[in-house]
Amino acid sequence: MTESSSGAATGTEAGKAPVPPSSPDDTPAVLSPVLTRRWSAPQSWSISSYRKLDGYTALAQALKTEPGRLTELVKNSGLRGRGGAGFPTGLKWSFLPPSDGGPRFLVINADEGEPGTCKDIPMMLADPHAMIEGCIITCYAIGSTFCAIYIRGEAVQAIRRVARAVQEAKERGFLGRNILGSGFDCEIVVHAGAGAYICGEETALLDSLEGRRGQPRLKPPFPAVAGLYARPTVVNNVETIASVPAIVSGGSDWFRKMGTEKSPGPKIFSLSGHVTRPGQYEAPMGTTLRQLLATAGGMKDGIPLKFFTPGGSSTPIFTPEHLDVPLSFDDVAAAGSMLGTTALMCFNETVSVPWAVWKWLEFYKHESCGKCTPCREGTGWLTQILRRIVTGAGTLADLDTMEDAAGNIIGRSFCALGDAAATPILSSFKYFRGEFEDLVTGRTPPIVRSGDLVGAH
Ligand SMILES: Cc1cc2nc3c(=O)[nH]c(=O)nc-3n(C[C@H](O)[C@H](O)[C@H](O)COP(=O)(O)O)c2cc1C
Ligand code: SF4
Repeated sequence: MTESSSGAATGTEAGKAPVPPSSPDDTPAVLSPVLTRRWSAPQSWSISSYRKLDGYTALAQALKTEPGRLTELVKNSGLRGRGGAGFPTGLKWSFLPPSDGGPRFLVINADEGEPGTCKDIPMMLADPHAMIEGCIITCYAIGSTFCAIYIRGEAVQAIRRVARAVQEAKERGFLGRNILGSGFDCEIVVHAGAGAYICGEETALLDSLEGRRGQPRLKPPFPAVAGLYARPTVVNNVETIASVPAIVSGGSDWFRKMGTEKSPGPKIFSLSGHVTRPGQYEAPMGTTLRQLLATAGGMKDGIPLKFFTPGGSSTPIFTPEHLDVPLSFDDVAAAGSMLGTTALMCFNETVSVPWAVWKWLEFYKHESCGKCTPCREGTGWLTQILRRIVTGAGTLADLDTMEDAAGNIIGRSFCALGDAAATPILSSFKYFRGEFEDLVTGRTPPIVRSGDLVGAH
């Protein structure tokens, strides 16, 4: 909800003029407010504001369309999941088995616990109806009459706002029985999580929704086949589903005119850290950090960038040499990282890399669910070693041990949280191992006193 997020209108209303991908230079990014276009409207979260700005017109259109054609439309748009993995959304929907007459579910992942990730909660606060309209259309497309929105427990304002918006939608006949006279019924339940990062992992989320302790399930079976209460279930991210009404209104060709061939559409980029104007910037996929920084007023106080995460703390760090990497799923992967949740945490030259890595590892150790040994034990070991290093008690052998442990966690853990925990170690060693060596050899002073570690996490 920055000034730029609501952005100067660039003619990107669904179905209208397309926005070309930005060129790889340092001119400011061409913003493409599709998901964020209502954010600066008065009381943007209310149904009256949403209705004034074309809200629920896509639903009326969708309900006149054959459900299978909606899945085809989303497939053709090339929309990829915005929750981190970038899985093609229409394809995911098409994995549901043919109806057997029993229930099937849509679950919205609004857990948003990854350090640096901060787009879904702003979206639910500023424009909850975009997500709700997307939920109803998606339920109709996949043959479901029930959707659960799982929101991080600490995000109390978002929970209240979404719950109120669901109520408003129901009062206006967009939810409930016989929606808009179509004969289609749909209910949405807002569920508050208890604030565990692992409950963002889709199968842990399903266990948590069912009232169990949130821990990942063995896959297969995938949720599409046996998800919530062992019934066919689609799990999608908030931003993914909020994109659906715009695709229904604008069409797949319009959507594809933004972004890159394999990562089409607009994307909310979350700039945080040492940035002059941090916040949400919606621009076509493939925009670069250099362009986004130019839009956000550059690095704060002119202190140069030292490193950044392209998609949250679980994605390998990048350095200024990656400023021109197009921020699309494939381009970021080709450059050695992951687009993740486009949480661009920017750190300036004053930041110690070992300090940042230590902080991230404390988080992962705290959030490890304990189900598998590599992650449960490994995050504990890595954190202990990092504590030694930042307090000046580490050794050169510690660095080798850390590299070995991190290498053994990656690919051997039960879920991606283990990989996420090991990633900051390996990627920081790739570019900044010297900083760790300086700390353990005493060339640089300790970052913290050992007494200050009490209660650290
Ligand atoms: C530890 C962990 C945490 C996750 N947290 C989230 C989250 O908060 N929100 C989210 O949408 N996806 C999260 N994911 C990814 C989900 O498992 C899943 O891929 C995503 O919800 C699918 O939605 P999409 O296809 O729309 O991206 C997480 C994955 C892992 C391994
Ligand atoms: S990798 Fe970590 S979070 Fe995932 S199942 Fe294993 S212990 Fe739990």
